[in-house]
Amino acid sequence: MTRMKKTHLLKTEEETRKLGGQLACAARPGDVIALVGDLGVGKTTLAKAIAAALGITEDVTSPTFTLLCQYETGRLPLYHFDVYRVHEEDELFEIGFQEYLNGEGLCVIEWADLVKALLPPETLWVHLTWDATGTERICTVE
Ligand SMILES: Nc1ncnc2c1ncn2[C@@H]1O[C@H](COP(=O)(O)OP(=O)(O)OP(=O)(O)O)[C@@H](O)[C@H]1O
Ligand SMILES: [Mg+2]
Repeated sequence: MTRMKKTHLLKTEEETRKLGGQLACAARPGDVIALVGDLGVGKTTLAKAIAAALGITEDVTSPTFTLLCQYETGRLPLYHFDVYRVHEEDELFEIGFQEYLNGEGLCVIEWADLVKALLPPETLWVHLTWDATGTERICTVE
């Protein structure tokens, strides 16, 4: 299997929106997008961009405290997770994490590296980092 890696420089939120548009456009039922990166690097911003490009009309908020926000008004159902505060896998099983992963919607998971072992091999991994100067955001998709 070939692994493709693509790097994007996200200087502005506009560039993040564009990338979100591309990811949303390519998304198929059952896909999983894993967002990885430090506090404040732009995971939620990218998730919102994906939601907007799916045509979701609801207000998209960060699921930091709720674990999951679910949206049904777009081209695909969107299951937006933030697993930062998950301490035990049981918390995920209780909300039906596996069912969402195997479902017909698109799962977008912030802090996905924390639950890596639970994610399918076809997961699209999106890493957000800061450049060497700490001012610009870099994104790799693989
Ligand atoms: N490409 C970008 N260019 C400029 N500012 C950005 C960009 N992406 C995000 N931001 C800004 O950075 C801040 C943090 O973004 P965001 O909440 O998306 O980060 P996060 O990775 O989800 O953080 P957390 O780890 O706390 O969930 C926001 O104020 C957002 O507007
Ligand atoms: Mg966030």
